[in-house]
Amino acid sequence: MDQILIRGGRPLSGTIPIGGAKNAALPLMAAGLLTANTLTLHNLPHLADISSMAHLLAELGVEIHMNGGVENGHTGRAFSLCAANVADTTAPYDLVRKMRASVLVLGPMLARTGHARVSLPGGCAIGTRPVDLHLKALEQLGAEIELKEGYIEARAPKGLTGASILFPVVTVGGTENLMMAATLARGETVIANAAREPEVSDLARCLQAMGAEIDGVGTDTLRIQGRESLHGADHVVVPDRIETGTYAVAAAITGGTVTLTGTRAELIETLVNSLQEAGVAVTATNDGLTVSRTGTLRGVDVMTEPYPGFPTDMQAQMMALMSVAEGASMITETIFENRFMHVPELCRMGADINVHGRSAIVRGVGGLSGAPVMATDLRASVSLVLAGLAARGETLVNRVYHLDRGYERLEAKLAACGADIERVRQ
Ligand code: UD1
Repeated sequence: MDQILIRGGRPLSGTIPIGGAKNAALPLMAAGLLTANTLTLHNLPHLADISSMAHLLAELGVEIHMNGGVENGHTGRAFSLCAANVADTTAPYDLVRKMRASVLVLGPMLARTGHARVSLPGGCAIGTRPVDLHLKALEQLGAEIELKEGYIEARAPKGLTGASILFPVVTVGGTENLMMAATLARGETVIANAAREPEVSDLARCLQAMGAEIDGVGTDTLRIQGRESLHGADHVVVPDRIETGTYAVAAAITGGTVTLTGTRAELIETLVNSLQEAGVAVTATNDGLTVSRTGTLRGVDVMTEPYPGFPTDMQAQMMALMSVAEGASMITETIFENRFMHVPELCRMGADINVHGRSAIVRGVGGLSGAPVMATDLRASVSLVLAGLAARGETLVNRVYHLDRGYERLEAKLAACGADIERVRQ
């Protein structure tokens, strides 16, 4: 397994291009199942999770053509997906196990073919993460759902029918699965307490381009008028706000100046506010933002919340930053029950962090020191890379496959800004 070796203590300086959002690309690819025509997606990041979704869709009979390189001004890849024939309606355990987002094929496949069999995703490192809300909502559209031998077996032989759905908690994947299914249901579906994440809105805009009628995009109430069929479209994936935020923290934690291009500051407004409060300068540019820190960092409190609140996917990175700030910071996680696994590893690097229930008290220390570390999920792993960039000495990050799921060319992007970082291939 590859490792990442960092010799810390160098302020970053330079430009980092931001790719398309993984968490937008995955549901957008699943949306290809909704039409017999070609859906072309531009600005797809080159990541292991995107390959896993492509693999799953190919198993179901979707024809996929890839174009690499720069096109239409976007650096990411483009995929053309054509689901003229859905040959199989089973998403097998081996593929779903690798990536929970595979469950996003459930809604579109059921709506298009009347049947879907999808392996139940298990728990994962950050919590139990059930899909009960996806299933209840699809049942309200008339689906018959059974759980058998580890699989979700969903049927709607006569098609789905629109309904009013109120999600008791905000669920990103649940909103996406239901919105996709509702585009082909008979009549109107209203989704209340819908997720408002930019990736949900990006999916809605792509569905609109495919002929779906959706009102309320970007709000917590989505109204969808079902259609007999959808057609093909061309869509550019929204920039990755978590990649943007992660490199913003990289600039801040090293006391450097980095310009992020191909992205938008407004996608991370809450994070920008917290960074500014902590003493980091953030300026929006035409094509992104510039992040710079010259003075000392101050501790600030943050609490994760559904969008537009502080993103849970930035919590670990913010904690790494707060561990070298002056004063204390309270970081509260409200989305996932078990998302502090980076704490013991950060403490091994010299951080002073105490967890009390769903909050962590971070008392800033003068500096961190390098150590061999490992993490159990994507964002926790990248928080250790950030800590390593700021630490004295060498940090060796193990289990790099987590990083490869969500960060394209991480070490190359950081090295281009002067970081001493390399991949050790084993
Ligand atoms: C998505 C993101 C993930 C991010 C998360 C929260 C993708 C591919 N992943 O995950 O990176 O951390 O949003 O912003 O977009 N829940 C239930 N029952 C359900 C569904 C969810 O109890 O049926 C709970 C979850 O356990 C969690 C909370 O609701 O505690 C929010 O989860 P959700 O928004 O659904 O996260 P994902 O869509 O899985």
